Amino acid sequence: MGSESSAKQFAEAGADLSLVGVSKRFPGFTAIDDLTLKVPAGSFFALLGPSGCGKTTTLRLVAGLEEPTEGKILIGEKDVTDTKAYQRPVNTVFQSYALFPHMTIFENVLFGLKRRKIRDADKLATDALALVELAHVAHRKPAQLSGGQQQRVALARAVVNRPALLLLDEPLGALDLKLRRQMQLELKDIQSEVGLTFLHVTHDQEEAMTMADTVAVMNEGRIEQMGAPEELYESPKTVFVATFLGQSNLFVGTVSGSGSEVITVSASGNELRVPVERAVAHRGEVTVGIRPEKVSLHVTKPTLTASQTMIGPGHVTDASFSGVSTQYLVEVPGLGEITVFAQNMSRGDHARLGDEVYLSWDIEHAFGLADAPPPSARFVSDTDTASVAVQEREKLEAELGEF
Ligand SMILES: Nc1ncnc2c1ncn2[C@@H]1O[C@H](COP(=O)(O)OP(=O)(O)OP(=O)(O)O)[C@@H](O)[C@H]1O
Ligand SMILES: [Mg+2]
Repeated sequence: MGSESSAKQFAEAGADLSLVGVSKRFPGFTAIDDLTLKVPAGSFFALLGPSGCGKTTTLRLVAGLEEPTEGKILIGEKDVTDTKAYQRPVNTVFQSYALFPHMTIFENVLFGLKRRKIRDADKLATDALALVELAHVAHRKPAQLSGGQQQRVALARAVVNRPALLLLDEPLGALDLKLRRQMQLELKDIQSEVGLTFLHVTHDQEEAMTMADTVAVMNEGRIEQMGAPEELYESPKTVFVATFLGQSNLFVGTVSGSGSEVITVSASGNELRVPVERAVAHRGEVTVGIRPEKVSLHVTKPTLTASQTMIGPGHVTDASFSGVSTQYLVEVPGLGEITVFAQNMSRGDHARLGDEVYLSWDIEHAFGLADAPPPSARFVSDTDTASVAVQEREKLEAELGEF
């Protein structure tokens, strides 16, 4: 990594970013809907959401490439809403890094500095390359580097301008999985070393969780929930967050009792309890959620403590062993298919396909949501392209079998 002094020079540039009530409407379509968020100086903030939810549009608004229909954008304490892109202390790394192929790595990093006639440009470029540990390939051309190295050059080129805010739009999207994981750690290291404010856009939940201090989950132009990765995972507030970030077992029921500490939700004859403070809604219809790794599997009916919930019996419809853990699917009448992750060293029992089992969990891990999963979620559509392809193949095989 770069020298202490160069890392500090970068650090001075970090600034807060605030979006206040920002909306962006294209003709006939609202891409961003009343977005308010604050990214504190020096933090690593991830905007996570599915394709088309408005992530790139948000970055383009911050960069000044797009004008908001409503709302304000502040960098540091300064309102930049009406300023031009080049006047903003912002740099962007896009998914395609767009290095100049005919220039050396060093010239690529130097290019913007030269064009803006910055003094000491050579030293700044050298420092930036040292920061991403690529000083030794400075004389090469981009084609002579690996994808991950090219990505680091793009990063050096973005930080060399000392932006207050670095915007990263799916910057690792072009890399294979292993390189992607490695670059995630490196990017995080570089960010904590230079202290810049990073706004990172991704649709990869694992990427957002491993890198960011704060994750904002975006859906259809709105932020559904924002917080530390653990907080979002342990206490999702909507069905979308509960299913987009990891897996959740969800049961829709009706509140049948409420005390000062727990509410009871009846779902198909099962009494599911949820801590009051972990439930978004406390009356009427409530969706109870439990993560698969929080569920224990039993081959005989367990004796419960007051702090546990049990359901069953059900039947194991699938058991797949993956080394460190086994994933079970258990069909419980009325509740549907429940996913259980059992660590191989865990206290819970092991079961085989078709076995009758009971499931239990600590009440403190359950969460309650005000919205319900879309009705189709439980069934795989038989008209999607994958299953149509399977049906076609089966038809063909049947025909061939007749000869
Ligand atoms: N210039 C435009 N005119 C009309 N609609 C647009 C325009 N730009 C974007 N949109 C729409 O706004 C929505 C958000 O687009 P955006 O590019 O921000 O999505 P995204 O979250 O970055 O998705 P992805 O993960 O696929 O990159 C999309 O439905 C898109 O079609
Ligand atoms: Mg995008």
